[in-house]
Amino acid sequence: MDNIAGTPVEGENFFGRGTEMLRLAEILKNDDILLLGPRRIGKTSICRAVMGHVKASNWHAIEINVASCEDELAFLEKLHAALAPEMATLGSKIKDRFAATFDAISTRIKSIKIAVTGAGTASVDLAAPASEDWIHLGNDLLQLLMQAEAGQAWLVYIDELPIMLFNMIRNDTQNGVRRVRRFLDWFRNDVRALPGSRSVRWLVSGSVGLDTLVQQHGMADTINSLNHQNLAAFTEDVAIAMVLKLADRYQLALDNEAARKLVAAVQWAQPYYLQKAFHYLRQRVSANANTAAAADIISQIDPAMNDMVQPGSDNDFHHWEQRLALQLGTVQAAHAIALLNLAAQDAAGARPENMLAHLEGRMPNDSTEKQREMFINLRDILQRDAYWWPDESSGNKRYRFHLEPLRRWWLRRNTL
Ligand SMILES: Nc1ncnc2c1ncn2[C@@H]1O[C@H](COP(=O)(O)OP(=O)(O)O)[C@@H](O)[C@H]1O
Ligand SMILES: [Mg+2]
Repeated sequence: MDNIAGTPVEGENFFGRGTEMLRLAEILKNDDILLLGPRRIGKTSICRAVMGHVKASNWHAIEINVASCEDELAFLEKLHAALAPEMATLGSKIKDRFAATFDAISTRIKSIKIAVTGAGTASVDLAAPASEDWIHLGNDLLQLLMQAEAGQAWLVYIDELPIMLFNMIRNDTQNGVRRVRRFLDWFRNDVRALPGSRSVRWLVSGSVGLDTLVQQHGMADTINSLNHQNLAAFTEDVAIAMVLKLADRYQLALDNEAARKLVAAVQWAQPYYLQKAFHYLRQRVSANANTAAAADIISQIDPAMNDMVQPGSDNDFHHWEQRLALQLGTVQAAHAIALLNLAAQDAAGARPENMLAHLEGRMPNDSTEKQREMFINLRDILQRDAYWWPDESSGNKRYRFHLEPLRRWWLRRNTL
């Protein structure tokens, strides 16, 4: 197993989530899935493992990453492009029947795009494709997939859908929200009404809160037909096993005790952060050959954790801050950051009463109810998005960071 920290992992490098993968595949027999969670939590890796698994049972499976899509047509273009190689594998009789339609769809996408770009110069409102246009196109494309081979099961994995929807809202201040609603309605209603729709399963994932987006715009109903899933951290045992496997691979004299300490230092045992922590520990140890004994390695754990949050190595943590502004808007995001600043002061977290008092100071012109509502709203979002969790072990509730390296980073950034 290699010490990979960044790109999706597969095969030998995909550790510890076999059961979780089978569980998702099982759900997909009957339901569509929405898998949300912060960046680098292992979504793409597990979704690709699910794809591999269903392919072994003769499903067709395609993946599209729609983070760069700015509108509905771009989405359809991605889908079309991902389908092309699959269409090519169909038997020649089927191909003959469907190839012309498939090619025609591509031409239609292009012609609507040209019409939209042309209109865009006159008025921003006209820059959006008329909804009936792209909906017909989308339906036709999916019909093709559903009918090319009767009864053939398909899995369509859509990565980073929330980013695309946020793009649409940002680019089209007048109609963006309405378009997002139409898109999600299409997905929920129109697509399901197509003949043969049961043969296609959707696996949708994202690293910014689609749940926050739909709640804020009163469209939570549009995603409630999806089965909501997330990726829990590893249990301590699995986390230790992974660290030991890495240690073995890189011949680091890490014993059980040292592995346990490393896992404890990360606190939230998501594989990416374990890989990162291991990486920095390995760097320290190999830079200092005489610290290679187990006891000495333990003494390097804390310094390695600090290496992890230094400028230059901290890009992953920025995402945790940026996604707040993306999902919450500037004002609310600033409040959330202020609360996180407080919670970061202490590894044990901050008391809710103190955080509420702090928020009251930031919202002097609002009523007590408004201040309270804001706190409760942010408290729940930050909990759901895995920034913090309520720790009641001391008798007094405290909201504390899940991820100790993130807390250190947060603290360092706000310290002069
Ligand atoms: N099952 C796993 N076993 C080992 N490492 C993993 C696993 N899943 C994720 N990782 C780690 O997390 C990183 C990011 O994984 P990825 O699937 O791209 O996450 P996401 O799609 O949520 O951003 C990988 O480079 C690897 O370091
Ligand atoms: Mg991903």
